[in-house]
Amino acid sequence: MKIVMLNGQNHKGSTYHIGRMIADKIEGENEITEFFFPKDLNHFCAGCYQCIEDVSTCPYYEEKKKIIDTIDAADILIVTTPTYCMHMSAPLKSFFDLTFDLWMAHRPMESMFRKKAVIVSTAAGTGIKSAMKDVEDCLFYLGVPEIYKYGMAVQAMSFDGVAADKKKKIEKKTAILARRLSENTAPSIGIKTRFMFWMMGMMQKKGWNSSPIETQYWKEKGWFDGKKPWK
Ligand SMILES: Cc1cc2nc3c(=O)[nH]c(=O)nc-3n(C[C@H](O)[C@H](O)[C@H](O)COP(=O)(O)O)c2cc1C
Repeated sequence: MKIVMLNGQNHKGSTYHIGRMIADKIEGENEITEFFFPKDLNHFCAGCYQCIEDVSTCPYYEEKKKIIDTIDAADILIVTTPTYCMHMSAPLKSFFDLTFDLWMAHRPMESMFRKKAVIVSTAAGTGIKSAMKDVEDCLFYLGVPEIYKYGMAVQAMSFDGVAADKKKKIEKKTAILARRLSENTAPSIGIKTRFMFWMMGMMQKKGWNSSPIETQYWKEKGWFDGKKPWK
């Protein structure tokens, strides 16, 4: 399987290590590709809306394309972020801002609806839930239907500093998650994804779009005629 790690930090601390443990434990001949933010996409969205009409005119298109193409081909996404001020890290948020055109409200990528994802966050103590919810919202609106979360209050500033009993727990939990992801089955499409996709389709049909190009995209995909991106 193709696994892509999207790391909301450049360094390899507790959060990265936990994410990598999941990736390494997934059974089979896997290809693991890693991106680190901001290293691999050091930009903020310029708010120019160029992507709505033509993504290739985004000022950061070339750098973005490499990452998006890799994501497109992936089976599993592992998204890691340390909890920073109760939320996901700023570079990860910036990455998601730069995927705005691919959200369900605009031109979602078909392949997103066939992926599974895991979100990993660590904190000293609090804010993990809200940090993971940030990422979950983004993945959901990008179309990912099956999302797992693993948060851990590590009370450490590096992976070496994590207590032995916590590391044991991490070993166990990452193995459970990896086993689940090793099952090469299609992701289950929940009612929330189905409903949101339907609603976004209705909006596009009514012309409540950001550009007629979006409605044309939905039409060409056959999504107005009952076709679904997950089939
Ligand atoms: C800028 C910054 C903000 C942080 N904010 C929080 C926070 O809101 N809640 C918390 O419990 N820990 C917070 N921490 C601590 C980290 O979340 C924690 O040490 C985490 O495990 C670091 O992960 P890493 O080893 O992958 O870098 C913060 C650390 C930094 C550097």
